[in-house]
Amino acid sequence: MDPTILKAEKLKVTFLPKEVTTRVPPGTTVFHAAAWTGQPIESTCGGRGTCGKCRVQVLEGDGVVTPADLEHLTRDEIAAGWRLSCQAEVRSEMVVQVPRLLSTPKTAMFGVGRQVLLDPNVHKVHLRLQEPDLHDQRSDYERLKGALKAEGFAMSADLAVLRALPGALRQADFDVTAVLCGESLLAVEPGDTTGACHGIAFDLGTTTIVGTLLDLGTGEARAVASTLNAQAIHGGDVLSRISYTMGRKDGLAELQRLAAFTLTSLVEKLTADAAVPQEGIYEITVAGNVTMMHLLLGIDPEPISVTPFAPTVVHGMTVRASEIGVGIHPNGRAYLFPAIGAYVGGDIVAGLLATAVPRGDRLRLFVDVGTNGEIALGSEQRSLATAAPAGPAFEGAEISCGMRATTGAIEGVTISEDAVSLQTIDDAPPVGLCGSGLIDAVAQLYRRGLMDSTGRMRSAEEAGDRVPRSLAARLVTVDGVRAFVLATTEETGGKPILFSQKDVRQLQFAKGSIASGIKVLMKVMGVTPADIHEVMLAGAFGSYIHPEAARIIGLVPPVTLPRIRAVGNAAGEGAKIALLSYREREAAEAMPARVEYIELSGREDFNDIFMGVLGFPAPDSLP
Ligand code: FES
Repeated sequence: MDPTILKAEKLKVTFLPKEVTTRVPPGTTVFHAAAWTGQPIESTCGGRGTCGKCRVQVLEGDGVVTPADLEHLTRDEIAAGWRLSCQAEVRSEMVVQVPRLLSTPKTAMFGVGRQVLLDPNVHKVHLRLQEPDLHDQRSDYERLKGALKAEGFAMSADLAVLRALPGALRQADFDVTAVLCGESLLAVEPGDTTGACHGIAFDLGTTTIVGTLLDLGTGEARAVASTLNAQAIHGGDVLSRISYTMGRKDGLAELQRLAAFTLTSLVEKLTADAAVPQEGIYEITVAGNVTMMHLLLGIDPEPISVTPFAPTVVHGMTVRASEIGVGIHPNGRAYLFPAIGAYVGGDIVAGLLATAVPRGDRLRLFVDVGTNGEIALGSEQRSLATAAPAGPAFEGAEISCGMRATTGAIEGVTISEDAVSLQTIDDAPPVGLCGSGLIDAVAQLYRRGLMDSTGRMRSAEEAGDRVPRSLAARLVTVDGVRAFVLATTEETGGKPILFSQKDVRQLQFAKGSIASGIKVLMKVMGVTPADIHEVMLAGAFGSYIHPEAARIIGLVPPVTLPRIRAVGNAAGEGAKIALLSYREREAAEAMPARVEYIELSGREDFNDIFMGVLGFPAPDSLP
């Protein structure tokens, strides 16, 4: 499909008899338009044009006849307007009659409140095949393919599966279960194994990898585990990983091996926890940033790091898990999410899938706060995305008292009339500030008048008129630099924790970058904060930010507090959704064409916008 078509005006489709209406970009199939309205049409092939179950009658609008129509419909049916909805593209306003909505769709609920149809890419079909005899000398392949076709499934098989086929059928007396991933035959198992079908959804982060083992029959999560990305020994962020591949001949192979090793170690842990054999995992989905995807695939990521930042691949793809060294079923598959741009990767596409930002009827803002801030703003009308490099401040780096979010990190700060209270991870004595604590600290200092709107800390004397002496006394000057004593020697049991003017400036640059990205998207979209229905904070870090603090420092636009929501690990949720629903996976595939990428570098207005958001908004300007 021509991606430029999708950005054109939307066309109205009405589904009868329920009279449900939606507007979709030209080129969308009627099948997918129905799924977007929550009215899924019957199918077993997931929209591939092979099961023939998705027929609809086109009452108004274009209904071009496709080869699949000719295969599955009679001439009279075609003349009466019947078409396969998965092949019929919306090219004009349409009214269609849907005789077979999926009657009792199985669904599963996800963390971001989405009800998702259970429609995995992996199918198991139990078959009792007619044994061959002198009157029926069809090949094993034709026998199996014919039986699957009768059940509504298309099939293709490669040499490895064909080699195993004669033994598999005969040892089981032709009573077998065919395992299909899409149309590819993965295995033929003896007897009825339809009750055991599993997959794993991975959020492949630069720092942490999270895996969820799912029962593809019920949608139930059977085990969840996370581990550090073993690549971390060769650099903490994507740029240092890319440098590693550039500096050593075997660097890329080593990082590929480590990615595969980490995923496989999680497969081992998850399958042990869920008491599922490793070869009982037929498919995995992987959502990660573009660099992580390149490294997992063993593709040179260097072009991502140099202008004009053109990666080798951004499309979604399915590969054999064995090709990338991940230990699941020997013929199992791995689906890798597409990306929107070099720095708006598959993890963000997965997050947008989970939150349905580009499919919603109201304008929403999605912000994944981190070293690279990824931002999307949109609705079904139009969606934009950008990447704003924020630097490592949010991870506690380059902050004098900064640290990662581990035991003893201050994750919350409250400055009341005359006291400072700290919330630390594991309630341990405070050791330093992690990202959420950093944002809280700045927000609280500003709100209490210990800092002005430009981010300048007041001296003890200046603040003395505004706050009780006990608070003002925490404002000190060390080596000519102002600082606020966040935790005293008594509280830490060691050195005091000082939050310095330099730290404030680091945070201002980081938040300024993300706030500028948001402002640019709002400008391109031509909207104001009042138009934004919801602000979603995502990611391992974003989810822990206190919405009020984000608003006070101007990290997010000034919207009312209930409109700011932490959505947790949206990328992981998206990976699960794509594993459980092929239709949803197709929605992810369509995302890059639906979401316009806005490049920030090179914009003439960027510097002015950036300077304009470095300070903090006046408290009385917040709604
Ligand atoms: S033919 Fe199977 S969904 Fe259309």
